Amino acid sequence: MVGSVSRETGQAKPGKVKYRKAKASWNPAMQAIPVSGIRRLVNMASTMKDVIHLSIGQPDLPTPKHIIDAYIDALNAGQTGYTMDAGLPELLVALRDYYGRRYNRKLTRDNILITSGATEAMYLAISATAAPGRQFIVTDPSFLLYAPLIRMNGGEVKFVRTRAENNHQLDPDDVIRAMGSRTFALILNNPNNPTGAVYPRSTVETILEECAYRGIQVYADEVYDHLIFDDDDFASVLNCSMDLDNIMCISSFSKTYSMAGLRVGWVISSQAAIKSLRRYHMFTTSVANTPSQFAGVAALTADQQCVQEMVGIYQERRDRIVELIEQTPYLTGYKPGGAFFAFPDLPPHVDGSDLALRMLKETGVCVVPGDAFGEDCTNALRFSFSTTCERMEEAFDRIIPWMAKQQF
Ligand SMILES: Cc1ncc(COP(=O)(O)O)c(C=O)c1O
Repeated sequence: MVGSVSRETGQAKPGKVKYRKAKASWNPAMQAIPVSGIRRLVNMASTMKDVIHLSIGQPDLPTPKHIIDAYIDALNAGQTGYTMDAGLPELLVALRDYYGRRYNRKLTRDNILITSGATEAMYLAISATAAPGRQFIVTDPSFLLYAPLIRMNGGEVKFVRTRAENNHQLDPDDVIRAMGSRTFALILNNPNNPTGAVYPRSTVETILEECAYRGIQVYADEVYDHLIFDDDDFASVLNCSMDLDNIMCISSFSKTYSMAGLRVGWVISSQAAIKSLRRYHMFTTSVANTPSQFAGVAALTADQQCVQEMVGIYQERRDRIVELIEQTPYLTGYKPGGAFFAFPDLPPHVDGSDLALRMLKETGVCVVPGDAFGEDCTNALRFSFSTTCERMEEAFDRIIPWMAKQQF
């Protein structure tokens, strides 16, 4: 058939079809999403043989069996429909009780919204509030979703730098100095990706007190809240603030229970905030995956020994990677207190992106360059220790002599 497309309706006029290729016309906000440097490296790695990945951003340890069983049982019991929009009632209760015990904090089910991972929770929180004229304080480096999401919605990002020489600790005075009349919110990721820094209680309390005083919102990303080493205290915002009026605490099952692909997370906030987010959630993903929410109930209500064991394994790896980084020429390391990442510095003028690409080509070791996480940390590399000590040792057997040959 021959015909053409009506200019007005976009539909084919009978008789003269001459298909015009539709021009993609994206919302200009899409330009805020950077071309992923990580993708480029991982794509290249996928074409190579014998690559060792120290680039992994998810747990490599297996999901505990009782959690898998609960997921399968839910499927077999026909739990394949939608849940309530706020989440599976059993999971809301399990989370309420769990946080009540952990932080001695009285919550109700109406303080909680179940989402498709912490990613959706962060997306809802940021995109429901970022707007022109509103400034968000974010650490540099920081997890790669925050800044683009803020900018996509017209918000402004104000970075506060952290440095390897200070163990990537956040100085509360720097944060307070960054606050101004346009500051709307602070994103506090503790423990931090990509640095593994865990902020002490005094830091969290000082920052929260100032935010409450100035009416600044705090979006706390606590997905690594259990991956804390050396038996250190963890200062959750839920444990450091008087009320939830300006707080959204976001977490998920992804890291603590090795459930990244099951996609369940949550937001905890005031009932009023949850009510608004709940409406928005219905217009984005509707509900989180149903059998995964049953798996989440099993994760929270069973014995937590599996978590202790995983933390023990990550801590051993952390100790080993700290030694290996220390032995590597040109890297300034430190001791990350949580998560499964280290973010050592290179000398100031070295381009981490170029170095990571050459390292992959010439040694077959894949790491993530600093510029994936911020603007002032391009002379850094992120090493993930979500892999065995043996694999890390093999990787550094290649990296150390290669780095020694570099002339910076
Ligand atoms: C700091 C941080 N927040 C959020 C996420 C996303 O977590 P989820 O799998 O729950 O969406 C990640 C995943 O890497 C992360 O590192």
